[in-house]
Amino acid sequence: MHNESIKNSLTFKKMTLADLVEIEPIEQLCYPNPWSRKVMTDCVKAHYQCVSMRYGEELIGYAFMLIGVNESHLLNLSVTPQQQRKGYAERLLQHMAYISRYWHCKKMLLEVRISNLPAIRLYEKAGFEYIGRRKNYYHYDGIQEDALVMEWIFSFPNQ
Ligand SMILES: CC(C)(COP(=O)(O)OP(=O)(O)OC[C@H]1O[C@@H](n2cnc3c(N)ncnc32)[C@H](O)[C@@H]1OP(=O)(O)O)[C@@H](O)C(=O)NCCC(=O)NCCS
Repeated sequence: MHNESIKNSLTFKKMTLADLVEIEPIEQLCYPNPWSRKVMTDCVKAHYQCVSMRYGEELIGYAFMLIGVNESHLLNLSVTPQQQRKGYAERLLQHMAYISRYWHCKKMLLEVRISNLPAIRLYEKAGFEYIGRRKNYYHYDGIQEDALVMEWIFSFPNQ
């Protein structure tokens, strides 16, 4: 009974360094410009808000976020390709918003590649709006790409 409920549940936990063994290959699949293990390790060690999302035992998504004064900055949010389009990113984003509000943030900010339409749609659906554009913000494989800067002003407090 207990095992069954774990198997069928979605959980959000503070990321550990051990989680990075599972996260690193997902990161490689998800991005043309993936973060290195060192960058992820540094975020965990620096106590950024780093969250792993599991369905049962399986690690299916993760996020990295920095809490600032009155605002949070979402640095990375990913769902493993096999589990995409099932609403998991929305759940993870809501969890990161909950953490942000817990730390008294009034809004969340992020940068997203201008060609990353799935992510842009995800953020628009959540309530993010465009507030700027950073020219040639991303560099990878000889490509330069602009970033859209998006902001989500929270309109309701945590329950
Ligand atoms: C962007 C990403 C996190 C979305 O994860 P997901 O779990 O598939 O997203 P969800 O199922 O929760 O979808 C929520 C909404 O996002 C949008 N969306 C997600 N994938 C989409 C796609 N392929 N095309 C268009 N819209 C998409 C839709 O608005 C969707 O709502 P809907 O189902 O009502 O249409 C996932 O594609 C991913 O990990 N991509 C690689 C990493 C990345 O680019 N992260 C963002 C960095 S800024």
